[in-house]
Amino acid sequence: MTDYTKFLSATGRQLTESAIRRMGTVVAQTGDVVSFAPGYPDASLFPWTELREIGTGLLDGHDADALQYGPTRGYKPLLESALRVLESRSVRATLEQIIVTSGSQQGIDLIARVLISPGDVVLVELPTVTGAIAAFRNAQAELVGVELQDDGIDLDHLDEAWQRATRAGKVVKLLYLVPNFQNPTGSLLGLAKRARVLEWAERRDVLIVEDDPYGLLYFDDVATEAETRPIAADDRTGRVLYLSTVSKMLAPGFRVGWMKAPQALIERFDTAKQSTDLTSGILDQHIVHEALRQGVADRLAPQLREVYRHKRDVMSQAIRARLGTRLTWSTPKGGFFLWATLPDGCTDTMLLERALQHGVIFVVGSAFHVDGSGHNTIRLSFSAPSPDRIEEGARRLAAAFG
Ligand SMILES: Cc1ncc(COP(=O)(O)O)c(C=O)c1O
Repeated sequence: MTDYTKFLSATGRQLTESAIRRMGTVVAQTGDVVSFAPGYPDASLFPWTELREIGTGLLDGHDADALQYGPTRGYKPLLESALRVLESRSVRATLEQIIVTSGSQQGIDLIARVLISPGDVVLVELPTVTGAIAAFRNAQAELVGVELQDDGIDLDHLDEAWQRATRAGKVVKLLYLVPNFQNPTGSLLGLAKRARVLEWAERRDVLIVEDDPYGLLYFDDVATEAETRPIAADDRTGRVLYLSTVSKMLAPGFRVGWMKAPQALIERFDTAKQSTDLTSGILDQHIVHEALRQGVADRLAPQLREVYRHKRDVMSQAIRARLGTRLTWSTPKGGFFLWATLPDGCTDTMLLERALQHGVIFVVGSAFHVDGSGHNTIRLSFSAPSPDRIEEGARRLAAAFG
């Protein structure tokens, strides 16, 4: 047997598999499991009819570009649609300032590859998204976690982290943030804090990576669209690299997102993307452009908000009824996730083991913490399972506690 480890590069050796992807394999192997693990959208909400019509029209052969190689920067009509979407969220940009990416995950990866040298510091929320942790780690960044408060990142702690790293002679390059209904905690960064974060980044000469897949998934019983105003909307000096995606508002199978950033950086991202995939799926880009042009996403958004809000309520009520004395959590104002704290003496991995035996899974909270903490937390996604399955999952979770 050949030992392939000797062929691995330094990066290849330290690659870590996402805890969430691993959970996907567990579900595939174990049959009847209620999965609160991945943040998948509800597939019954994909606009199948409209997409089928658009897809059929594009594949009738009248436009060879629909299946041809396309520009790395992106299919131009889609870039123009993306500018309009950005504008609807008060983010102004020119064609030179955006690039289509294969989902926002590729945007994060391009940023890590183009901007991070080994040892550079990236400040992240504690906890934060596993995909971002993986991308920055692969680029050998040093990840430093900044505590969260009820209204998002703790600004005092943020500056202390910057000062500590700078005193130690390190270069703090980026602050990676998910201001809207954060993955994994569901937290919403307060409007006043957004302005202060931007001011801080300018003062400390740090770039902000603003990742915003959930901004339009606010639940209007407790949040408004105005509260999700992107930090990028008030960026006058090119501090913010803003990532957007159609994954949660149309379908993640498209692998289409876009990044707005200063032109000088977009040119570098374009070059880096050339050696990754030449272009994001061109048929995907055509379909997404057409769906945006026809207003499919705009029409769908209110329904998504309503259905996910209902599922949030079903999960909160089921958890309160069955696990109210064991878990503590705050009700999310949007997005896909309910973040819960475990009782003393119970750890995330211990509970997951028992939960699996009872046919329910979630993601362990420690997977989202860059400092090895968080073993007293778990992330429960309410987005994909039906209301009945959410209730059943809560029943199984309660059984796992014994
Ligand atoms: C905050 C955040 N960023 C990025 C991603 C990846 O999104 P995409 O499908 O656009 O690559 C996710 C997916 O769940 C996410 O929650």
